[in-house]
Amino acid sequence: MLVDLRSDTVTQPTAAMREAMMAAPLGDDVFGDDPSVQALQQRIAAITGKEAALFMPSGTQSNLCAMLAHCERGDEYIVGQNAHTYRYEGGGAAVLGSIQPQPLAQDAAGQMQLADIAAAIKPDDPHFARTRLLCLENTWNGHPMPASYLDAATALAREHGLAVHLDGARVFNAAVAAGGDPYEAVRGIVNRFDSVSVCFSKGLGAPIGSALCGSPELIRRALRWRKMLGGGLRQAGLLAAAAHHALDHQVHRLADDHALAQRLAEGLGGIEGLSVRSAQTNIVFVDVAHGRGPALLAHLARDGVLATGLIGLRFVTHLGVDAAGIERAIQSTRAFFDQAGDAPAAQAGGTAVY
Ligand SMILES: Cc1ncc(COP(=O)(O)O)c(C=O)c1O
Repeated sequence: MLVDLRSDTVTQPTAAMREAMMAAPLGDDVFGDDPSVQALQQRIAAITGKEAALFMPSGTQSNLCAMLAHCERGDEYIVGQNAHTYRYEGGGAAVLGSIQPQPLAQDAAGQMQLADIAAAIKPDDPHFARTRLLCLENTWNGHPMPASYLDAATALAREHGLAVHLDGARVFNAAVAAGGDPYEAVRGIVNRFDSVSVCFSKGLGAPIGSALCGSPELIRRALRWRKMLGGGLRQAGLLAAAAHHALDHQVHRLADDHALAQRLAEGLGGIEGLSVRSAQTNIVFVDVAHGRGPALLAHLARDGVLATGLIGLRFVTHLGVDAAGIERAIQSTRAFFDQAGDAPAAQAGGTAVY
């Protein structure tokens, strides 16, 4: 069996989730008639402590609708250089909304310097785009953002009249890593933000679906954009039921993914030629010396272990991976570095990390 560590998006719905999907009451959600979607929207709004929510086909569309709803043509959003909402969403805000990104450097934990954020906020002057929004991400590359950073960055934005959006694709991972009741922890994280996008299709294990949560006014604007972007789905209750099931049964188990990532980091940690960057939640990054990343990926794939990356490789744990799979990944990596004189495989192709 493959040990697929490329992403937590590769999970398959469990048998119980499929059953829940088949049993879901359905309606036409473009008419607002789907009871399963309506219930999910109310539920995720309550979980995040927001007044309203909108079911979305993907995290990318959810973030895009948020940016389009917060900003107008000629506005600007401040964002990390390596944030998903800047680097990995096809430039959607600029392409479709004429919203200018102002990307800023991030440190190894994904944080922008507060001084850089302050310096990037433009004065009200026709030379400049209007700085309107700050976008943060939690977790970022598996790093939960410290409360002190979230407090300081969002307070700074508010001082300057900016709105703040959180790409919380993996906010449940951050919440579980914080310990205690994950639902309370999610609310504690997102209460600083005007809006949050949450993904059900990553560690939570649903096949499709995200939600944008915020004020009724913001969600009303986002609904118009979602329709325009082709994201108005009909009997979407099939998908909402999967998200309900994930919220019922697959939140606490994120702790198992985090433990497996820890074990992987420990197991890889002792191997010469590799350095493990961090494993705070379910994502482990390793740097591979001497340009051997692609050769290692090819070697792992021959052993039925899939990961992504080039120089820095990424391994992501999720509900489709177990302890035996993690041991296989460690053993296979060890065997690669034990093979003296193993030249980089010419045919090996690395994939980007997103
Ligand atoms: C942090 C983050 N935000 C947003 C997204 C976008 O989600 P989707 O793939 O559903 O468009 C991803 C996807 O991997 C992500 O990792």
